[in-house]
Amino acid sequence: MIIKDGTAPVSVRWVGGDDGHLELLDQTRLPGEVVWVECRDVPTVIEAIRSLRVRGAPAIGVAGGYGVVLAAAAARQRNLAPREARDHFLAAAEAIAAARPTAVNLRWAVERVLREVGLSSPPEAASVTPADLIGPLLRAAREIHAEDRRLCSAIGRFGADLLPEGDVLTHCNTGALATGGDGTALAVITTAWSDGRRFRVWADETRPLFQGARLTAWELVQRGIPVTVLCDSAAGHLLATGRIGCCIVGADRITAGGDTANKIGTYGLAVLAAAHGVPFYVAAPSSTFDLSIVDGTEIPIEHRGAAEITSPWGTSIAPPEAEAFNPAFDVTPARLIRGIITERGVIAPVTPDEVARVLGGG
Ligand code: MRU
Repeated sequence: MIIKDGTAPVSVRWVGGDDGHLELLDQTRLPGEVVWVECRDVPTVIEAIRSLRVRGAPAIGVAGGYGVVLAAAAARQRNLAPREARDHFLAAAEAIAAARPTAVNLRWAVERVLREVGLSSPPEAASVTPADLIGPLLRAAREIHAEDRRLCSAIGRFGADLLPEGDVLTHCNTGALATGGDGTALAVITTAWSDGRRFRVWADETRPLFQGARLTAWELVQRGIPVTVLCDSAAGHLLATGRIGCCIVGADRITAGGDTANKIGTYGLAVLAAAHGVPFYVAAPSSTFDLSIVDGTEIPIEHRGAAEITSPWGTSIAPPEAEAFNPAFDVTPARLIRGIITERGVIAPVTPDEVARVLGGG
């Protein structure tokens, strides 16, 4: 373990200036090993996003923004004519945006850095080449990163102020590892703890990739916050004991109506929380909202390979003839969510009008 001073771990960093590179804390190796992946080209960034070396909606957005800088550097290296260089660069940026489909932050960040250099929509200035853009792209990517730190702090503050008494149950990992700052749902928990509130955090292990057991428990241990890991299937039994004051989770995409995609198992947890009268909160920055859709059924759900289910960590646990169902995310309908904590305030009740009001659109 590296961090024992109570500060949050860093998961994404840009090393150097315009000719620098991206480094990602390899989350597939945690908590056993602390290994940084050096990304000097776009394929390495895409591989890291797809294999969850970097993961969590805001963190893949931050990594995607820096990935666009590497795409421009690669286009420069190829010594192409300006038009070809730009086409090559934009194709690489699109490949980054499409690396994982559910978390909207990834495409949002790629489009934002492109927009900030005037490349989101034609016509583009014919004289502008990717080489000219590296500096401005890096500034835009750094701004997304810095902004995410600020958003996490604001979410932590708003959430800590409404966290009810009692223990807290969470799902997946929503901490510093999953963001450019202190986290979303986990920032609510750590801010409340810093305020002097005392409780235990119950972390669903989060099958099949164990983000709760491996990453959330690791982050909380670093910060000295008591944590108990449970099988996802033990959540109903735990809620029935009455000791959980609230459930709080993150999000990968939230519609204009408040329907929320998050790690598989979140929907089941929300149903269980409703059955036991336990408030269920979502914490997410405005960059996780996709206001182009209202209904959660329109959110694209990533389906991952069978081996994650049938052979966790390479150990076969099912007959080879068995098929696997492996959606990485599910959608929790707005009606099951007590409030959505954003950096702009808390959306409660979770209705289209309230989403628009808090996000400033209505
Ligand atoms: O597949 P993952 O690990 O990237 O899924 C992450 C989640 O579902 C998180 O809860 C979500 O991205 C919010 S992170 C602040």
